[in-house]
Amino acid sequence: MGEKMNLTLSSSLESHYHIFSIDQFSKNQLLDFFNFVADINSNPLHFVESLKGKILATLFFESSTRTRLSFESAMFRCGGQVVTVEDGRSTSIQKGETLEDMGKVVSQYADLIVVRHPEAESCNKIAQTSDVPIINAGDGGHEHPTQALLDLYTIFKHKKNIDGLKVVFFGDLKYARTVNSTIKALAKFDISFIFISQDGFELSSDTKAVLKDKDCVFYKPSELSDAISQCDILYITRVQKERMTTDVQSKLFFLTQDHLNASKSDLMILHPLPRVDEMDKSIDNDPKAYYFEQAKNGVFVRMALLNLLLNPSIKFI
Ligand code: NCD
Repeated sequence: MGEKMNLTLSSSLESHYHIFSIDQFSKNQLLDFFNFVADINSNPLHFVESLKGKILATLFFESSTRTRLSFESAMFRCGGQVVTVEDGRSTSIQKGETLEDMGKVVSQYADLIVVRHPEAESCNKIAQTSDVPIINAGDGGHEHPTQALLDLYTIFKHKKNIDGLKVVFFGDLKYARTVNSTIKALAKFDISFIFISQDGFELSSDTKAVLKDKDCVFYKPSELSDAISQCDILYITRVQKERMTTDVQSKLFFLTQDHLNASKSDLMILHPLPRVDEMDKSIDNDPKAYYFEQAKNGVFVRMALLNLLLNPSIKFI
């Protein structure tokens, strides 16, 4: 087991003590990381003892199914153990404890802390006092870097080459943190982007700024079929109602089987999930639907991340 675990990655990831943002990864580091994930994906049993004796703490102050459980599953699959807060309101934060104090204390119990919180500054606050690495598992509407890693890994796994792809983003592009992180990750590659959103759900100015030198086209929702017919990847998101102050008609966005009629045979449809009412569920039977596999890939991606941060036999040069 020990011999199999010795691995040298070519890109220096030394700055990755904490994972706050997808900005921390260069294109080469992403590719290096995806090759490592692919290794885990094809040989998960080689890693069953890779984190034996290590403890992960998951601190969740917002609802989650995939992110928390896949991090926990990843830790168990690597032989480690988990302590968890699945609802931050059950902690001493309710008594007035600060995130900084909580970070200091939890870092005495665990070797790594995964945090989801509604505030963009939450991970920084915890990292200020933590004695162990922090991974951002979603900080409000800001970023979700590990989702971006699994989104791009899913593309890498099937397309091999991320450069040269045309990607359509459809849905709530304003409030979805996965959109922010995944666009920033894709923008490190040679990608053509098409964005389709209703009024009021357009890309944030910060994300647009990242794309200033990129090939970007903005289509109307009525042009969805036309946009899809040209693209290699369709990334769809739900309306993030919890981040909005006014009630909206989420049916504004709806992907049907008809929209896919003229699509390429190797189109990949991705969705970070959960989905609510933005797509016809019969699309699940279409081989172009990759979103459940995407969720599964989250376990391999998180096994890789946990090993990068906690396993000393994985070296970087
Ligand atoms: C996403 C999130 O939490 O931002 N979910 C996830 O982690 N897969 C997307 C969403 O909630 O819409």
